[in-house]
Amino acid sequence: MDPAQFIEYKDFEEHARASLSKMVYDYVASGAGSEWTLRENERAYYRWCFRKRILADVSEIDLRTRVLGQELAFPIMIAPTAFHRMAHPDGELATARATANLGTLMVLSTLSTQPIEAVAAAGGEKYQGWFQLYIHKSRSLTEELATRAEAAGFQALVLTVDTPFFAIRYADQRNGFTLPPGCEMANLRANLPEIPGRSGLAVYADTQMDSSLTWEDVAWLGSLTNLPLVLKGITTVADAKRAVAAGASAIIVSNHGGRQLDGDIASLDALSVVVEAVDDACPVLVDGGIRHGADVLKALALGAKAVLVGRPVWWGLAAGGEEGVCRILEILRDGLADAMGLSGVAQIADVGRQLVMSIPVGGDHH
Ligand code: GLV
Repeated sequence: MDPAQFIEYKDFEEHARASLSKMVYDYVASGAGSEWTLRENERAYYRWCFRKRILADVSEIDLRTRVLGQELAFPIMIAPTAFHRMAHPDGELATARATANLGTLMVLSTLSTQPIEAVAAAGGEKYQGWFQLYIHKSRSLTEELATRAEAAGFQALVLTVDTPFFAIRYADQRNGFTLPPGCEMANLRANLPEIPGRSGLAVYADTQMDSSLTWEDVAWLGSLTNLPLVLKGITTVADAKRAVAAGASAIIVSNHGGRQLDGDIASLDALSVVVEAVDDACPVLVDGGIRHGADVLKALALGAKAVLVGRPVWWGLAAGGEEGVCRILEILRDGLADAMGLSGVAQIADVGRQLVMSIPVGGDHH
């Protein structure tokens, strides 16, 4: 199917479910434990409504914004997600080309299936990228990853702070998740073990990644690089304040797309308290549960400088590589412009807290 015929998130999701292997689809779609947090991430967007302004001249809608000095054509970035070659043979090269074409920014995962340098090169001159880091027990390997990212032109390091190890994910255990033939962790030159009844990723992390991390390791990482350090995975006021004190250049409010602590607060619910605590000391971004352009506008109204999307991009890749990623990003971008125009806001800088109101009781979630 031609990605141009996909109209909304749901179309991509349904296509991915029908076309990917069960093991691959489940790995991306599923969350931790009962998947309560996975569901809450989406539901949280239904607990807010707009308070629009009418007759506000929205003939020119401008979506441009800046994050950490980088110009974005629209405030929707690509969240780090693993193993893009499971979705499309071009893998992360396709994702990088799509972001460069559209003028946004990709956060490349440590667990990418194309090497750091090739991804930056594929994006070409207009490429803007941050690099997501998992700290390994081998500090020299971790150092090498940070150095390679900086040398390849990545403009920030994103440390994932909610993953001392991978959570129990039933679907991956049931499927004995491992990398399909032809895919490997290109930056680590390693593969995942294949063990019936277990997630190969969880087993890899248990043996190779460092679950002893503390705030001291954040300081260590900061000392390794000149790049701004972004902390991803914060959901509380106390941790947000600590991150600012530790010198974080930006914070990503995230529960890892519902894939880590099941029962963690929905990321949108955590956003406004974190924004208040950070008090403009650094930009705050958010990911998790964003499926429509209007969701993006709600997150911006609650104080996010930009949002990140993970699963939508992954399904876009599965639908048609670079073209599919472009299509889903365009759908979200156009949906944001639509919601802004109809609520009477023409520029990102004019999106404010007064634009939304919380709805106290649940209501219809779909
Ligand atoms: C990787 O970060 C995952 O959540 O599977």
